[in-house]
Amino acid sequence: MVDPQKQKILDEVHRHLRAATRGVVVLVIGVIALVSYMIDPWELSFKEEKPLAELPKYEAPAPEFENGIHLATGFKEGENLDIVIANCTSCHSAKMVTQNRATREGWQTMIRWMQETQNLWDLGDSEPLILDYLAKYYAPEKAGRRQPLTNIDWYELKD
Ligand code: HEC
Repeated sequence: MVDPQKQKILDEVHRHLRAATRGVVVLVIGVIALVSYMIDPWELSFKEEKPLAELPKYEAPAPEFENGIHLATGFKEGENLDIVIANCTSCHSAKMVTQNRATREGWQTMIRWMQETQNLWDLGDSEPLILDYLAKYYAPEKAGRRQPLTNIDWYELKD
């Protein structure tokens, strides 16, 4: 037979122990919840890392030239082209120029004709530079295309 006084104390101790256990359990759950809220282990270990923000795509400036052709005008890429564009595209399109082929003298004759009849201005120091460009890139084309190859000396490829 247990002493009722002792039993009362024991009951009291057990009550405190249960309360303490509940407290510890609640605390542990709380800590786990807090930590997982902060580091989100699911997110860290199972999902691919998300980009911070969708960055706007870098747009490279459109190339001015493509395959050696100035896209805006159709002129062939070459030295002094900027001077040609500045002087030869304000009255008519560049096509007027690019459709033509001439020697340096031929180009100069056209420039003189425009100066005498079309109010083309004195090109000054730019004229030889313009003529350099035109004579080089819009020279008269050789008659016809390259002839097909004949008399080819075939030889055996050796390993
Ligand atoms: C002040 C205006 C003006 C400027 C600047 C000008 N042109 Fe012209 N050009 C004309 C006119 C007008 C014509 C005749 C257009 C037509 O026939 O419809 C012409 C015609 C031409 C032609 C065609 C000639 C032909 O015989 O068919 C060529 C090639 C040409 N220009 C080249 C040039 C070049 C190269 C330059 C720069 C050095 C230039 N133009 C600058 C006014 C100009």
